[in-house]
Amino acid sequence: MKVVAFVGSPRTEGTTDALVRQVLNGAEDKGADTAIFHIGLLDISGCHACMKCRKTGVCVQDDDMKPLFDEIRNSDCIVLGTPIYFYYMTAQMKAFTDRLFSFVGDNFEKRLGSRKTLFVVTQGADDPEIFRAQIDSMISAWGMVGLNVAETIQACATSDKEQIEENEELMEKAFIAGQNLVD
Ligand SMILES: Cc1cc2nc3c(=O)[nH]c(=O)nc-3n(C[C@H](O)[C@H](O)[C@H](O)COP(=O)(O)O)c2cc1C
Repeated sequence: MKVVAFVGSPRTEGTTDALVRQVLNGAEDKGADTAIFHIGLLDISGCHACMKCRKTGVCVQDDDMKPLFDEIRNSDCIVLGTPIYFYYMTAQMKAFTDRLFSFVGDNFEKRLGSRKTLFVVTQGADDPEIFRAQIDSMISAWGMVGLNVAETIQACATSDKEQIEENEELMEKAFIAGQNLVD
């Protein structure tokens, strides 16, 4: 069982990374192999809308997204993590998401099939409902390519990883979610 995680924050030791790592700890506890990619550090352009992938299923761009397509194809489960930036996912996570277009067929069939997916979202605001519409929209977008979000772990009123690591209830929830992801 292979679980591959993508973190959309430019901070490699931030709150999103801390929570995603805890999810992976839970998955590893159940015997999964895991990998984590910080897409905030990678060179990933937005979709150029050349439409070549409509026919071929392959993106023509030669950037850091290229190996990630195979990582996704070869995975059993996916973890997607992003902080809220101005009421949505980060620009880096949006570029990554747009590039998944090559996994959508001409008639919107899911070329990838489906992958059980866990979503980690972090935010400065303390109200867990304030971004409900945006969170649902992200989940719908990923669902279009077959990344089916089974559970969402949300951290509110947070900006530093220490706040996450000291929150025993949240860390336990993330660990169990990682276990459940691969069960
Ligand atoms: C450019 C930028 C925009 C942000 N926009 C929002 C926002 O709209 N709403 C919110 O609640 N928090 C916002 N935040 C706060 C982050 O979502 C929050 O601190 C998060 O935990 C950071 O995750 P990280 O530590 O993984 O980078 C923003 C932070 C930055 C840097």
